[in-house]
Amino acid sequence: MSYHSYQIRSREQYDLAYKKSIEDPEGFWADVASNFQWQRRWEKTLEWNFEEPKVRWFSGGQLNITENCLDRHLAERGDQPAIVWEPNNPEEDYRVLSYKELHFKVCQFANVLKNNGLKKGDRVCIYMPMIPELAIAVLACARIGVIHSVVFGGFSAQSIADRIQDAQCCLVITADGAHRGNKEIPLKAVIDDALVQCPSVRKVIVLTRTRVPVSMIKGRDSWWEDEIRKVETQGNPACTAEVMDAEDMLFILYTSGSTGKPKGVVHTCGGYMVFTNYSFVNVFQYQPGDVYFCTADIGWITGHSYIVYGPLSAGATTLMFEGIPTWPDAGRFWEIVDKFKVNILYTAPTAIRSLMGFGLDFVKNKDLSSLRVLGTVGEPINEEAWHWYDENIGKGRCPIVDTWWQTETGGILISNLAGITPAKPAHATLPLPGVQPILVDEKGEELKGNSISGNLCIKFPWPSIIRTTYGDHERCRQAYFATYPGLYFTGDGALRDEEGNYRITGRVDDVLNVSGHRIGTAEVENAINMHTGVVESAVVGYPHEIKGQGIYAYVVYNGGSHEMSLVSKDVVQTVSRIIGPIAKPDKIQFVSGLPKTRSGKIMRRILRKIAEGELENLGDTSTLLDPAVVEEIKKGKL
Ligand code: WTA
Repeated sequence: MSYHSYQIRSREQYDLAYKKSIEDPEGFWADVASNFQWQRRWEKTLEWNFEEPKVRWFSGGQLNITENCLDRHLAERGDQPAIVWEPNNPEEDYRVLSYKELHFKVCQFANVLKNNGLKKGDRVCIYMPMIPELAIAVLACARIGVIHSVVFGGFSAQSIADRIQDAQCCLVITADGAHRGNKEIPLKAVIDDALVQCPSVRKVIVLTRTRVPVSMIKGRDSWWEDEIRKVETQGNPACTAEVMDAEDMLFILYTSGSTGKPKGVVHTCGGYMVFTNYSFVNVFQYQPGDVYFCTADIGWITGHSYIVYGPLSAGATTLMFEGIPTWPDAGRFWEIVDKFKVNILYTAPTAIRSLMGFGLDFVKNKDLSSLRVLGTVGEPINEEAWHWYDENIGKGRCPIVDTWWQTETGGILISNLAGITPAKPAHATLPLPGVQPILVDEKGEELKGNSISGNLCIKFPWPSIIRTTYGDHERCRQAYFATYPGLYFTGDGALRDEEGNYRITGRVDDVLNVSGHRIGTAEVENAINMHTGVVESAVVGYPHEIKGQGIYAYVVYNGGSHEMSLVSKDVVQTVSRIIGPIAKPDKIQFVSGLPKTRSGKIMRRILRKIAEGELENLGDTSTLLDPAVVEEIKKGKL
């Protein structure tokens, strides 16, 4: 008998589960969902159409996701570690929070939020370092039905302000600062800058982490620690979980698309819980007592689904790491694996490629024998990195799961199941039960059969599919359901090999994937264009050895005669200010004009080819307004 009855333990079981999930999706997911703690059972398992779009899973059902992540584990594994936390500085003590302790702290902080007048449906922005209090804050929101919007620590004040305004958040949870390697990020100061533009925020709760001096604004700001003390004097540590409908919003997470403004992807309580749990248990083959380490940040969807909600709802031990893979040295991940006897390691191809570059000395003296399963996420993994990971970290005995999914999908849609279905280097392989991928051509015609490539769409809803984009449902329809009517369009290209395995080839829209971070080219262009002297710009991706993709910017500048290398630095600085350091262009080429069609459309295809170093065969250039520009750009290529 396995730990979770729905854990697939053989290839035959996978085939059967997949078959059932296609023939009877509602029956299939109803069976899985029955394993959770519902306050009221749902009435209708699924209602949907992809035209509006409208998707409702388990409607009429009532639950609170934190009861599933915390309360229901207390009897059996209350003393088991829920969160193991490794600090940025290896000399500092690590922390372990048992399920009992985590439950206590979540209830306590939920009471803090209630003391501050928060109620179901309110939005809270969380901007915090990777410390247990971040997970506690997230879960405390969910406890009382408050919708969290976590913003990654690498975003600038302007990006935070945009997100806070879009969601009309009334409270911000942050810390004085964050440690990242040998750097300190002044989180509170960044929030102060952001809040100048955010009248909706009436309260800021600040956790002490780095002890960097901060300015606390009277009537608005208070310390986390003081708020906790207040709750303690009130005496009652319990906090009843808010009753949530399955389709009530759980959180908003902003992500980049092909337009300039990030979208607030909305996930709801029931379906998201069921699918993150199901995919966690099956893809990673989690077994009781395993220590599971996902190196992502909770500021991204991977952290939401596979540090917090998936693992905790499955009663797992989830390891949170505050630091970076290369500090104090490039052996940090392996040291953590050794120190905590990690069994499952889930990381990004960009991290693997970067660590590969430091050589094997950093792996050598580490005991990695506890590892049983390895995983990757966020971008296509090249074969070289795959083999390095397999040989040097997994020692050839750990299955690698290459998990394909998106912020919008909530959970892993295409991946092998560790040790159960076969891995294939650089291939995400097969869809999870309940997931119906198809490839289509430009016109949206389905491409049947194998050994074929096309645009990746999903033709049937799974429980954690995006429900809407916050405050603008039409935008959700436009972005995901309008390109190919009746289908969810992923924005990715893929090929299906002779055995039906999927290989994701990358984005087919104007979205870049830099070090596994999604960045819209239009967003970067908008930021560059804000620099005084810039007339216009065009941003494309190019292959980058470590980051996967690098950012190449073509900039038209008429700000007078300056030392162009200095202007270049200023432009980078502007992008960093407007979006954040993660969106800094790697290369800036100043040009006198951009290649445009007679109707004024920038021909990005040409710019992409040049950035990739493909100077010949630029394809059809007959519609170009001014072919001379292309020659100039080719000559000036960086
Ligand atoms: C890419 C991250 C290839 C893809 C969970 C997708 C991948 C985008 C893989 C979503 C993979 C993610 N192989 N490409 N295993 N996983 N991607 O929203 O282009 O940050 O559309 O979600 O990352 O990025 P997001």
